[in-house]
Amino acid sequence: MNYKIAIDGPSGTGKSTTAKLLAKELSFIYIDTGAMYRAVGLYCYRNNIDIDNEEQVKSILNNIDINIFYKEGNQEIELNNEIVSKEIRENHISNYASVVSQYKDVREKLVNIQQNMAKKNSVIMDGRDIGTVVLPDADLKIYLVASDEVRAERRYKELIEKGQDVKLEDILKELKERDYRDSHRENSPLKKADDAVELDNSNLSREETVKKILELFNKKVGK
Ligand code: DC
Repeated sequence: MNYKIAIDGPSGTGKSTTAKLLAKELSFIYIDTGAMYRAVGLYCYRNNIDIDNEEQVKSILNNIDINIFYKEGNQEIELNNEIVSKEIRENHISNYASVVSQYKDVREKLVNIQQNMAKKNSVIMDGRDIGTVVLPDADLKIYLVASDEVRAERRYKELIEKGQDVKLEDILKELKERDYRDSHRENSPLKKADDAVELDNSNLSREETVKKILELFNKKVGK
């Protein structure tokens, strides 16, 4: 039997770290859907596509082939046969991803890939529309939240550790802009599914967050 866990929420709530640890614990496949939107954003950035022009973004979708695979337990993402796992994490690509993810055709292409992956495996998927659109029948849906300041601080540390030159105040501002765009767009906006459990992890460590979700999952599937 294949199980599905959906984790949604705004950026910087620790969705991917949590999902990765949970996947390891449960031996499920972790699917980072944000990485796919980032890959589309990266393609647009590299090819000077005007991301505010929906028609232009739509016209390049057939040139994009996205593939996710696992190497030594880590997820790698390929854009047209090139591994771009590191490049998609550059700070400016976050904005590109957020803008292109508004468009219906972009979402349809990526949701299709995501749903196919979930057919074959037990999965933990994180994103913005997993509980509402991608896996509406997920066994457990989590909506992770944390305060703006905590989220900005986490993102800042992550980027500094990667050697990127960023300022905390800029990160906070960009984070708020991105959240606004992600939750106010017309197509599949970020929102809590009616049957999702909301978990505020502002004051929880990653281990505590994982433990709570594991308890919820075990209760849900009767373990
Ligand atoms: O989770 P992330 O920061 O890597 O996601 C990058 C952008 O992609 C984010 O601003 C919103 C978008 N996204 C989305 O619209 N739907 C998803 N399922 C995942 C990400």
